[in-house]
Amino acid sequence: MGFKITDKVTWVGKIDWELRRFHGDEYSTHRGSSYNSYLIKDKKNVLIDTVWAPFAKEFVENLKKEIDLNKIDYIIANHSEVDHSGALPLLLAEIPNTPVYCTANGAKILKAHYHEDWNFVTVKTGDTLDIGDSKLTFVEARMLHWPDSMFTYMSGESILFSNDAFGQHYASELMYNDLVDNAELYQEAIKYYANILTPFSTFVTKKIEEVLSFNLPVNIIAPSHGIIWRDNPVQIIQKYMDWAKDYQENQIVIVYDTMWNGTRRMAEAIAKGIRSVDKDVAVKLFNAAHSDKNDVITEIFKSKAVLFGSSTVNKSIMHAVGGMLDMVKGLGFRNKKAAAFGSYGWSGESVAILNEKLKAAKFEVVNDGIKELWNPDKDAINRCVQFGADFAAKL
Ligand code: FEO
Repeated sequence: MGFKITDKVTWVGKIDWELRRFHGDEYSTHRGSSYNSYLIKDKKNVLIDTVWAPFAKEFVENLKKEIDLNKIDYIIANHSEVDHSGALPLLLAEIPNTPVYCTANGAKILKAHYHEDWNFVTVKTGDTLDIGDSKLTFVEARMLHWPDSMFTYMSGESILFSNDAFGQHYASELMYNDLVDNAELYQEAIKYYANILTPFSTFVTKKIEEVLSFNLPVNIIAPSHGIIWRDNPVQIIQKYMDWAKDYQENQIVIVYDTMWNGTRRMAEAIAKGIRSVDKDVAVKLFNAAHSDKNDVITEIFKSKAVLFGSSTVNKSIMHAVGGMLDMVKGLGFRNKKAAAFGSYGWSGESVAILNEKLKAAKFEVVNDGIKELWNPDKDAINRCVQFGADFAAKL
């Protein structure tokens, strides 16, 4: 059921406690998510975004408890991805002539998804819609995170409906940033940024600077996933500015996979070497095959350097490490140093392959890496400790 955010604005979305995978299997959602839809009742009535299709029927039924659907004057589709547009077909089947405000790209994508000729009204940055006491202003937010994305700003209430930006996959009945556990909230917010927005960081910086240049008061940031920022909402804008600028903490991540523990023992020895040089640095080890890939990506995002390790198998690397390297290449991390390691039995290609993949992913590879034969003996372990110390000394 809905709840009021302000006198004029009611949340009418869906909290999805069960969700554990998003974007197919690309994104883990340990804490579920929500699809936030907002109903504005002013002299005109406006619906901003809907929910994912599996909840469309429930959404429309609940919406009818808040308003006679025929009294909805405008629908705004800030973003056409199906988690926000999924209830449009069912809703517009009931109120087919209702104008759908979106960007030109949004109209194209909605048509391509649903093959319906709805009453689209395309808008650009600066276009406005008077709805009574309040005015809505549209701000295109291209590539945050799709070509169609936009924000809608509501004057009077001073609410920025930011769609995916500033959101988190985080189910909570509490719904506000001053009520939820902030450690959980920021863990989900940075994971969302690291895994979804990293490739678009230059757009993030420019868009935020543009929005700030409007000098609009912002009392509330209401994203389309997770909790609503009402206590000092600018805090998440400041975080996004930090995260967009090649963010890093004093942390090094070691990602590896191992067949018979030789590469794992190398990883642990390298970590020991790093810590021998820098007692303050956080060193975190992840077996790529056993770890949640999105959690590992988040830790890489927070790191100043990474090491990737793999045994050699079939003249190549192990598939979980290969998958991680494909992910980091796509995300386009910047300003991170890297090195490779791995154990081998006879041909021993893994380290050279890792080096190539790290370079292709734009990491700064600081050395040739280290490989050790079969199960590392005491001398080999000592070489790995020294390798870790040398690596740390180069940072
Ligand atoms: Fe939450 Fe890009 O959709």
